[in-house]
Amino acid sequence: MIDITDLQTELAGKNPRVILKKALELFDNIAISFSGAEDVVLIDLALNIRKDIQIFSLDTGRLHPETYRYIEKVRQHYGITIELLTPDRDVLDNFVKQKGLFSFYEDGHSECCGIRKVEPLKRKLATVDAWITGQRKDQSVDTRQDIPEVQLDTAFSTEAHPLIKFNPLLNWKSSQVWDYIDAYQVPYNELHQHGYISIGCEPCTRPVLPNQHERAGRWWWEDSTKKECGLHAGNLKTKN
Ligand code: ADX
Ligand code: SF4
Repeated sequence: MIDITDLQTELAGKNPRVILKKALELFDNIAISFSGAEDVVLIDLALNIRKDIQIFSLDTGRLHPETYRYIEKVRQHYGITIELLTPDRDVLDNFVKQKGLFSFYEDGHSECCGIRKVEPLKRKLATVDAWITGQRKDQSVDTRQDIPEVQLDTAFSTEAHPLIKFNPLLNWKSSQVWDYIDAYQVPYNELHQHGYISIGCEPCTRPVLPNQHERAGRWWWEDSTKKECGLHAGNLKTKN
């Protein structure tokens, strides 16, 4: 059993490549969670270390057409398999029948995200020992300042199945991510050319104005301290 405290001490402040290399050395059954945005750098870095890495995206059914095209572009560019995880059909049918397609504008995003993102993610995470996310501290002053290089995922671990979460990009600023994309000619989502910085589902994402924070374009009708969709629920708990 890995000692997370020791591992965190070893990885603290290390660059993304070192963190990824360690994650891929320690875990065979590990997956990258790819949102279809600038976290593509995780894929680029990981493939230079190991070719057989699992990659998945949560296909909420509500992503932008540009994001679907981009996921396909990434798949072809690297010659990789990207597993698309879809919501439970009966639960989703029932939800839409009861509340329509835009209930999140009325009563918040957690119910819809719970069905379209969190439950499919939970199913996937039950099959792996560790996962890798593209979370960065600079994405949110409200919810992401305390993320570590590696952590026990308290939101998705069970007693029988502890789950480890790696956040290799945590200390990179957005500008470093974009320098990497430019330097290594990594394909990017065309929405970034149209004022989008942080990209999620189409009805819940909008472009931001100059000097607005990227998170202002996500769930803009909600309080900034609630702008986590359940994928990274541990971030909210640590702030309480
Ligand atoms: S979110 O929780 O607000 O939607 P964000 O868009 O900042 O997350 O992305 C942070 C990380 O969460 C991404 O780098 C990725 O690892 C994971 N993630 C977010 N959305 C998805 C998605 N649709 N599919 C897979 N992973 C995702
Ligand atoms: Fe639903 Fe919006 Fe969450 Fe996507 S981001 S799952 S559309 S509430």
